[in-house]
Amino acid sequence: MVELPTSVSGKSAEEVARRCAQEAGRIIMAHFGRHEPMIAKGRGNFVTDADLAAEHAVLDLLRHEYPQHVILSEETANHGVDLSAEGWLWVVDPLDGTHNFSQGIPYFAFNIALCRDGEPVLGLTYAPATGEEFLARKGGGLTVNGQMGRVSGTPSLKQSVLGMDLGYDDARAAHLIALLAELWPGMQSVRVMGSAALGLAYAACGRYDVFVHHFLYPWDIAAGILLVREAGGLIVGRDGEPVSIRSQGVVAGSPAAVQDFLRLAQGKPWR
Ligand code: IPD
Ligand code: CA
Ligand code: CA
Repeated sequence: MVELPTSVSGKSAEEVARRCAQEAGRIIMAHFGRHEPMIAKGRGNFVTDADLAAEHAVLDLLRHEYPQHVILSEETANHGVDLSAEGWLWVVDPLDGTHNFSQGIPYFAFNIALCRDGEPVLGLTYAPATGEEFLARKGGGLTVNGQMGRVSGTPSLKQSVLGMDLGYDDARAAHLIALLAELWPGMQSVRVMGSAALGLAYAACGRYDVFVHHFLYPWDIAAGILLVREAGGLIVGRDGEPVSIRSQGVVAGSPAAVQDFLRLAQGKPWR
């Protein structure tokens, strides 16, 4: 298993990530159900006081525990950072699924990853409304609330539950919808949960056989890349190429079902 740096107060990186998740989760749940004002960053894309308060608390904690590490966080920190630079980088989405959160739908997550030289080596996705923690450390497998988890062994798209999300690019979303309409009913069912971080976590532990997204940011994807890989899954780009935290489009889940999706989608635009 990969060696991770100990924090200045002597905590392991897992412990720090967990503390961040617990603190963000506490703040998010204190705001949940209050129907507070939302600021629109784009159509269907919101930020709330909960996103900002959770991010503030987590950045404080990380800066205290790892003052030398670089942090990229969705709402405020370091959008210009070089994602492939050498060294330690924390990537944080304080609240993934803000639209669900603000509608009172309990599918949202806190998402955090630690990367070494641009590659995720620790990933944690925490869903505070259900108390579920998806955690992976490079070389250590996936755990879901402490129990080992694995991707599904589903052999084909036809036998798959496919998860997807629509993101914030209307043209690319329309392509994905058109592709699924073309492939339908070539799968068991489709789910659009509204949290890409949870979508990747669900693909990692076999709840989704395949998860597809056409337009993600590093904070949506960094933890999920490791969760899926450590669970024995395949996570690739649009044309089957390897993914990184800079990838926008991904297909993830059961290796055979992902390959089958790529074969069936070949030559058809979905982003
Ligand atoms: C979004 C959600 C959504 C996905 C978008 C993401 P946010 O994150 O994960 O499901 O489709 O692409 O950006 O804005 O709620 O943090
Ligand atoms: Ca977010
Ligand atoms: Ca997000």
